[in-house]
Amino acid sequence: MRPPQLSVTRVAPSILAADFSKLGAQVREVLDVGAKVIHVDVMDGHFVPSITMGPLAVSALREIVAEYGAMLDVHLMIERPERHIAEFTNAGAGSITVHAEATPHLDYVLDEIRAAGAGASLAVCPSTPLTVYGEVREMIDMALCMTVNPGWGGQGFIESSIGKIERLRHMLAEGVSLAVDGGIALGTAERCAAAGATTFVAGTAVLGSADPAGAYVALAETVGDPRV
Ligand code: DX5
Ligand code: ZN
Repeated sequence: MRPPQLSVTRVAPSILAADFSKLGAQVREVLDVGAKVIHVDVMDGHFVPSITMGPLAVSALREIVAEYGAMLDVHLMIERPERHIAEFTNAGAGSITVHAEATPHLDYVLDEIRAAGAGASLAVCPSTPLTVYGEVREMIDMALCMTVNPGWGGQGFIESSIGKIERLRHMLAEGVSLAVDGGIALGTAERCAAAGATTFVAGTAVLGSADPAGAYVALAETVGDPRV
C-alpha cells in the first residue's frame, strides 16, 4: 500500500522551519502551489538532543492537507518508535518514517505502520550502513537517507551522501521512494535527483525562506515535482 503522493517525485516542505505562530497559513501557502507531502519532524530529546512536536501538530494539520489531497509524512526521530505509532496514525499521519538506529524491532514497527494504513519508511543517519535495507526490502514504501545528522534544521549538506544515495537506489524495490533530508536547496537537490532521489525534504529552503511558495515552486521545477 504505497501512498499515492509518494509514487512520484515530490518536494516535501518541512514545517520545522515554519513560523509556528502562523503554521496553518504557511502550510496553505505551499499547498496552494502544489505541495503534496508535508514533512513533520518529531524529536524526543533522547534519540536527538532537540525536542520539537508530537501528535498534536499532526492532528492540527490533518484537515488542511486533506483539503488539498496532500499527506503528512511524519519523521520520527525518537527512540523506540514502535511504542508511538498508533498515536501518530490516529492523528492523521499518511506515512511514518522511523530510524534504523532507534529500535531493535524494525520488522515489527514497519509492519505496524502498514497495518495501520500508513506508508512505511525507514531512515538511516549519515554514518549508518545501508545493509539494513536488504532485510526490509519488501516492507517499505520509502527509504530516507539523512544528508545531515538528524536533530536540527539549517545544517550543511554532507557531500558523501551523493554516493550513498546512488548505492541505496540500487538496493530498493521498484517504485520505492528515496527521500533525502537535510541541507536540501536548489544545488544539492539537483545532484541528489541525479543520484536517484525522488522525495526532497526541505525546511530552511522553503518554509524558512521569505517566499515559501516561490521557493517551493523553484525547487519543484528543479527536481521534476509535477505539482499536481
Ligand atoms: C533534521 C530534520 C529535517 C529538517 C531539515 O533533523 O530531519 O527534516 O527539517 O531542515 P533543513 O532543510 O533546514 O536542513
Ligand atoms: Zn526530517
